[in-house]
Formats: sequence, C-alpha cells, structure tokens
Amino acid sequence: MDLADLTRDLETLRDESIAAVAAAPDLGSLQALEVDVLGKKGRLTVVSRGIGALPAEDRPKVGAVANPVRRAIEDAFRERHAVLQASALDGRLASESVDVTAPGRPVARGTLHPSIESMREIARIFGQFGFVVYESPEIEDDVTNFQLLNIPPDHPARDLWDTLYVDVPGHLLRTHTSPGQIRVMQTTEPPIRALLPGRCFRYEAVDASHGFEFFQVEGLMVDEGTTMGDLRGLLDEFARAMFGAGRKTRFRPGYYPFTEPSVAFDVECLVCGGPGCPACGRTGWMTILGAGMVHPVVLRSGGLDPERYQGFAFGMGPERIAMLRHGITDLRLFMENDLRFLEQFR
Ligand code: PHE
Repeated sequence: MDLADLTRDLETLRDESIAAVAAAPDLGSLQALEVDVLGKKGRLTVVSRGIGALPAEDRPKVGAVANPVRRAIEDAFRERHAVLQASALDGRLASESVDVTAPGRPVARGTLHPSIESMREIARIFGQFGFVVYESPEIEDDVTNFQLLNIPPDHPARDLWDTLYVDVPGHLLRTHTSPGQIRVMQTTEPPIRALLPGRCFRYEAVDASHGFEFFQVEGLMVDEGTTMGDLRGLLDEFARAMFGAGRKTRFRPGYYPFTEPSVAFDVECLVCGGPGCPACGRTGWMTILGAGMVHPVVLRSGGLDPERYQGFAFGMGPERIAMLRHGITDLRLFMENDLRFLEQFR
C-alpha cells in the first residue's frame, strides 16, 4: 500500500458515499448510512487504517488527502439532511391539514362562589356611599372579639356567640366581624365609612339555617353628628339596590351589647309579601341584618370621644342574602363545594 493506493481508496469511498447520500430516500436511511460511513466502525475508519501500512515518508502527506475527503462526505450528509427535513415538513403540511374555520374548544370557565358574589354586590352598593373595604383577622383575641365590644367575661350576652377557641390562651376564632370595628377605629381617624367582609366561626350544631363557618359583612360609620336616621336611610337604599326598587323595609327593636339602641332590619318578603310563606315564616318580613348606634363604651374602646363622635354599625350574612335572592333553602350548600350547586350561579 502506498499513498496513491490510499488516495484512490479514499476517493472511491467519497464518490460512493456521496452517491448513496444523494439517493437516501428519508431521514431514517440517511442516519443509518451515516453510521455506516462515518461511524466509529464505519467505512471511513476502515479505509483510514491503510495509513498504518504507508511508508514513513508518506504519512505526513496523508492529511492533505484524507481531510478534504472527510469534509466532502460530511458536507454531503449535512446538505441531504436539510433537504430531507424540509421535505418531511412539506409532507406533513400537505397531509395534515388544520381547519382554521372549525369552532374552538370551549375553555372551562369558573364561577364566583355565591357567598363571594353576594359580598361583592354588598361591597359594590356600599361603595357607592363611600364605604371602603377593610380586613380584620379571623383568629381574634378575646379582648377585641368581646371585651372591647362591651361584652365582659362571664357576661350572659356571651351566650349569643357560641365560641370556638384556639389553643393559644386568650384567642379564639372570631364569632362575628364586629371586632373589626374596634380595629378600624383604633387605626383610622373619623370620618369612618368601613365595610368589613369576612369569615366567622361559631360552635353551632349544623342544620339548614346554622353553620359553624359562615361569612359576615360588617359596616361601620363614625362621624360628628351621625344619627339613626342616617342608618335608616342608608339601609333603605341598600335594600332597594339589593332586592329591587320599592321594597318596604322596617326596623324592629333588637339587642346587641355593642350598639344602643339596637335594631333588626327587615325587608318585605321576596317570595310572598304576606302570611303563609315558607321563606319568611309567615310574617311577610325577612330579617337581613342587625344594626344600631355604636355604644359609647365601644367608641371609647376604639379611642374615640363619644361626646364628639357618634356612629352606627350593622352586620349582615351574605349567605342569607344570597339565599333570599336565589331561593336557596339550605345554608349547608354554601360550604359543601358541590359543583352541581355552585355551577348554577353563572
Ligand atoms: N355582630 C352581630 C352578630 O354577629 C351583628 C351586628 C353587627 C349587630 C353590628 C349590630 C351591629 O350578630
């Protein structure tokens, strides 16, 4: 074997390989061919072994012959690869068509939970009167949940709120959103118009009208010269925005330790407007919230001077309002997360 023989072998391999590459019908056979020619045990390696048999003075010249051959073969593979890849794409484009006029697949759309929807509507209505939404903690201390609201320890009024305690002494799950009144008064200068929506908890036996977990929306207004007439007018506007123009409303005397006087606020029954109705218990009236003028003790708890400031507060159940608006009869549905129930509120 001399340099001329090796050169001839290499050029033969080059010509055969380039011809075979040009004839490769698809990417798969091109890849197989590449292994066959350029692979570790491929034909180029085999031919290159002839280098070992050359006379010593020829060996330095081998590179000038072998390198262009390798490059020519590699170029041929690269070019063919590009061509085959493009035609594979053309083939797919031709065979797989996309019908751009087909209707899209609908995106599954969620809905607002009826409690949330109800709270947003409440916030929207009171927002028109300048009420701003605040947040207050769900784990509350006994002092803020009760004592600062004029409910001392061991006072019988505590029976109104069956309480779930947490294992941090002096702390509990808030039984109502009213402690938020204290927190707002302690941090905000009057005039105050605050709305406090939030989750509340009570140690209750669960039935169709009682849950151990529910929402409330608290309202608080404090300013100089705020009167019960302001409360009455505001709640009337709210009831009409929420339940329809022309709804009759009424105040009944009520009792809460943190308001004086206290009232229950009723709206004319949506279902019957008269006796014999399942929705209102035959009275023709539905109670939608408790309210009253903020007790001077509570104003003082909030750091305000009751000689200068007066205020009113109210607390309502958004679930109760959603029940009335949508004709829902069982409070438990709100916390069960049954999609068959929830998906109705689109
Ligand atoms: N916190 C009272 C309750 O849980 C509702 C209420 C709020 C009453 C504000 C009067 C004023 O029943």
